[in-house]
This record gives sequence, C-alpha cells and structure tokens, in this order.
Amino acid sequence: MILTVTPNPSLDRTYEVPTLMRGEVLRATSDRMDPGGKGVNVSRAVAAAGRDTLAVLPLGGAPGALVAELLRAEGIAVAAVPVAGQTRSNISVAEPDGALTKINATGPELTAAESETLLDAVRAHSADADWIACCGSLPRGLAPRWYAALVARAHEAGARIALDTSGPPLLAALRERPDVVKPNAEELAAAVGRPLRTIGDAVAAAGDLRALGARTVLASLGADGQLLVTGSGVWFGSAEADAVRSNVGAGDASLAGFLAAGGEGPEALAAAVAHGAAAVRLPGSVMPTPSDLDPAAVTVTADVPLDRVLTEPTP
Ligand SMILES: Nc1ncnc2c1ncn2[C@@H]1O[C@H](COP(=O)(O)OP(=O)(O)OP(=O)(O)O)[C@@H](O)[C@H]1O
Ligand SMILES: [Mg+2]
Repeated sequence: MILTVTPNPSLDRTYEVPTLMRGEVLRATSDRMDPGGKGVNVSRAVAAAGRDTLAVLPLGGAPGALVAELLRAEGIAVAAVPVAGQTRSNISVAEPDGALTKINATGPELTAAESETLLDAVRAHSADADWIACCGSLPRGLAPRWYAALVARAHEAGARIALDTSGPPLLAALRERPDVVKPNAEELAAAVGRPLRTIGDAVAAAGDLRALGARTVLASLGADGQLLVTGSGVWFGSAEADAVRSNVGAGDASLAGFLAAGGEGPEALAAAVAHGAAAVRLPGSVMPTPSDLDPAAVTVTADVPLDRVLTEPTP
C-alpha cells in the first residue's frame, strides 16, 4: 500500500468560460469540482496504476467533507484528520485557448494539537504502508520541521518515505534521511543555492542533497526528463512528449509511477518518466491510467549526457 500525506489539501473548482474579462459577470460553459493537493494527485495516480493507496489529510468544514466524498467516489481510501479550520477552495478559470487563471487560497492554520494528530494518523497507518509519500507545502501552523518529524516517525514504524516538497521543510527533513526526494529543477537549484544550466549541474546538485541526507534523489527536469541518483549509480530517463497539454501534476504522476514500480532502480525511473510524459498529454492535473502510458517511448541510460544544456535552465 502507498500512503500519501497532503498537509494542505484543497477543493478545486474549475470553471470554463469563453473569455476571462476583468470586472464582468462571466457565464461558465461548464464547471467541475476535484479533490486537490499534491499527495492527493499521487494517490489518484497510484490508484489508476491499480495499487492500493490511502490518502491522509486534514479536512475541515463543508469543503473538507466534499474532498473526502470525491476521493472515496474515485475508490481512494481516505484517513481524514478533522480540523477546526475550513479546507481551502481553489478556483481555476479555463479559457478555450488553454489559458488557465488560478486563485489559490491559503488554507486553514492548524493548531499544535491538530499538527500532532496528523502525525499520529500517519503513524497509525505506517505499518501497512510500503511507501509514505509526503507532498506539497505545509499549511500555516505546521513548523518547517514537521516533515522531518514525520520522516523520523515513519522510519521508526518501518516504512519508507518519499518527500516532494521544497525550501526549509525539505532541507530540515534531509537530516532524517528520507528514502527518496523528488525535487523539480527549480526546487533542486533552490535547495543547493546555485543555478542549474546542464544535466551535469543537476547531477552535482542531486549529489549534494544525498550528502545532506537524502538516500535517493529523483529529480524531474521538465521536458528534459528525469535523473535518478542513488548510492549505486546515476541514471537519466527521457521520453519525447508530443502534444503537450498541461504539465500541472506531471511531477506528482512521476512520483506515483516511481513508487508503484517499486521505488528503486532504473525500471522505476522508466515508470516515472512514462507517467510524466503521459501526464503532460492530459488536461489539467488529470492523472494517467495504464492505457495512457507509452513505455516503449522511454529511454533510460547510465551514460548520462552531463554536458547537455537544460531546455529551461534555472534562474
Ligand atoms: N514538455 C514535456 N515533455 C515531455 N515530458 C515532460 C514535459 N514536461 C514534463 N514532463 C515529464 O514530467 C516530469 C515531471 O515534470 P516537472 O519536472 O515539470 O515536474 P513538477 O514541476 O514537479 O510538476 P508538478 O509539481 O506540477 O507535479 C518530467 O521530468 C518529465 O518526465
Ligand atoms: Mg512538483
């Protein structure tokens, strides 16, 4: 079972409008509601891959109840930690040309007691989990060391941890030796404090994260592909994705593919790349199902093209 933790989930509402016009009353041509959050995306992709998953998330108020209901309707088990604040609602306005305007709410501030209850909920389910994927930013009220505490507790319970976050929560958690971290290029550059221009720069930065405590680094480099840097080697995987529609959630799909494929080695990297390439061909943050994957289009090599310049070098 793959357990996911989403500390700041959302109820995502998407409205399609002919044109977004400031200061006008717009009539939506369609509207939908989805459960949102990076761990939630991972759970959806894991479920789509046919693996068991449990989504642990703090939920509050009517939007929180809806998030749980929508997830369960998709067949995803939910361990909800009730919180006093109301789960945030995020708004997306989609136009026919593909432009997407988003308004993301901050979300509730968790109390110290709620922060502990959330850790306890993860620990209560850790024994059943092969992997615990902790994804996204922390809500107000959770200290930057919260993920570090989670890694320590999950390791005590014998579970492996994959962490997809950035900034101080990532750096603090590295000291607890997470099994996998999944930064994108920008997050990797920020973590080491220097820009990435080439694939070799990304390999070096991933090595630095390992020196700081990460056991394995799965670095996603957007259109360029992904790097897997472990104690036993470095691999580079890529796949051409024609017809790119939306890269939102491609990293989440990649992490889900990696974990569902066992969470180690070049085969899992190939699965991660296949999931990323499939995710960008799908609209919004729709997660790929097995029929969306094209494993034959993926190449994985230990002969890493270190001098290749990234399509989008980081600032
Ligand atoms: N334009 C693209 N063409 C082909 N593959 C892509 C493209 N963009 C992304 N991918 C695939 O998806 C993976 C994840 O993308 P990216 O590095 O942008 O993740 P991310 O920034 O963490 O995304 P998110 O946090 O929104 O899920 C890439 O490593 C790559 O395998
Ligand atoms: Mg990401």
